[in-house]
Amino acid sequence: MIADRRQWLLGAGGLALAGLAGRAWQQGLLGGDNPALAAWDDWASGRLIGPLKLVGAGVLAASPHNTQPWSYAIGRFGVDIFEIAGRNLGAMDPFGRERLAGLGGAIHNMALASTALGRAARVRLLPDPGNPAHVARVILGPDGSGPAPHRLLPFISRRHTHRGAWRGGTLPDARRAAVLDFPAFPDVRIALFEPARPRGQRFAALTGDATAAIVADGAMMDASHRWMRHARRDALRLKDGLTIATSGVSPVLAAMGAMLPEQSARSEGEYWLANTRDTQLPTASLFGFVLTPRPHDRRSALLVGSAWQRLHLNATAAGLVAQPLNQLPEMIDREAQLGQPARFARLADALLDDPAWRPSFAFRLGVADAPAAPALRRPVSEVIGPPARIEWEIEQWRAAGGAF
Ligand SMILES: Cc1cc2nc3c(=O)[nH]c(=O)nc-3n(C[C@H](O)[C@H](O)[C@H](O)COP(=O)(O)O)c2cc1C
Repeated sequence: MIADRRQWLLGAGGLALAGLAGRAWQQGLLGGDNPALAAWDDWASGRLIGPLKLVGAGVLAASPHNTQPWSYAIGRFGVDIFEIAGRNLGAMDPFGRERLAGLGGAIHNMALASTALGRAARVRLLPDPGNPAHVARVILGPDGSGPAPHRLLPFISRRHTHRGAWRGGTLPDARRAAVLDFPAFPDVRIALFEPARPRGQRFAALTGDATAAIVADGAMMDASHRWMRHARRDALRLKDGLTIATSGVSPVLAAMGAMLPEQSARSEGEYWLANTRDTQLPTASLFGFVLTPRPHDRRSALLVGSAWQRLHLNATAAGLVAQPLNQLPEMIDREAQLGQPARFARLADALLDDPAWRPSFAFRLGVADAPAAPALRRPVSEVIGPPARIEWEIEQWRAAGGAF
């Protein structure tokens, strides 16, 4: 696909450059500040204060296809986060498992951000049995009650999914240990595979096959295509989804590719399959799974996402790059949804020491020469919902004797 594009571009010397530049501008690749990226600087500059800081960190979390399936309610005593089920990946995530993982990532970022306020924080997952969309409540203690600022705070705005070519080769033990250095999340384990070993090779082959299966599934590709943002006006208006700038091609090729007409779901699939098989899998230093015994349990799905967020932040702090490669878990869910034989679930067993622990998230880790570009984000002002926590806030205020 990239080769095709290059040939097309080389052969297109006669085309009016002004027209091409105009198209690149439309794609958001040329032309100064991009307000759809301002959320990254909102965090890095420290300009958010109080509970807004938690939201500012939450919005920078990873989410499937950058769907950002969240809204937040803030108060004096903390922040609530809600699932927006309509921001979904359809047939690519039929049970909403990945959507919850994205929310889990946001919750983890919020917990880390609480340490920037100097207020102790407690996180209650799924606090309201009457409202399953209320995925977490972060409860903040009084000023001065919290631990010191967490060492990962600066990396919240430096973590980016890297889909490009990496250096390959093995990682020294110390760097690998740095990535895994975090307190255990309940019911979550991490499994790592060396690409050169038999299980690593099996992981790569299975991920390639799962990608081909997704590309051949029209409903999955249509669902994916809905989150592709080709036009600058869409990127600026929606501030979500995937763009060519974060697809893993070099900045120069991204700018050139942006001048081409919008891609179809089919051509996106062809590019994705080629990039996965020819670039992403062969240049990784390590593959891995986040495992859990019950991937579709809502709490477990949240915790899997929190663990991924933490692992990616640790990797960033250790100078490594990371990319989710979730084609295998996605195909396991798709076969279950369609009532088909569980072919991919069975094939995954060959990678697992204890098949009771199921793969709920797959990824690669490694070293890259250049950092990845930041993805679009809705800023804090666009994700704050109605004051759903007001009753609880008043209760807390009364309990504190009207002080605090
Ligand atoms: C549950 C989940 C599944 C994901 N699956 C993939 C994937 O299979 N391939 C990929 O390249 N990125 C995947 N991502 C990464 C998202 O596309 C990415 O987080 C999003 O586009 C925002 O970009 P950022 O992580 O750079 O902030 C996944 C993220 C989450 C949370």
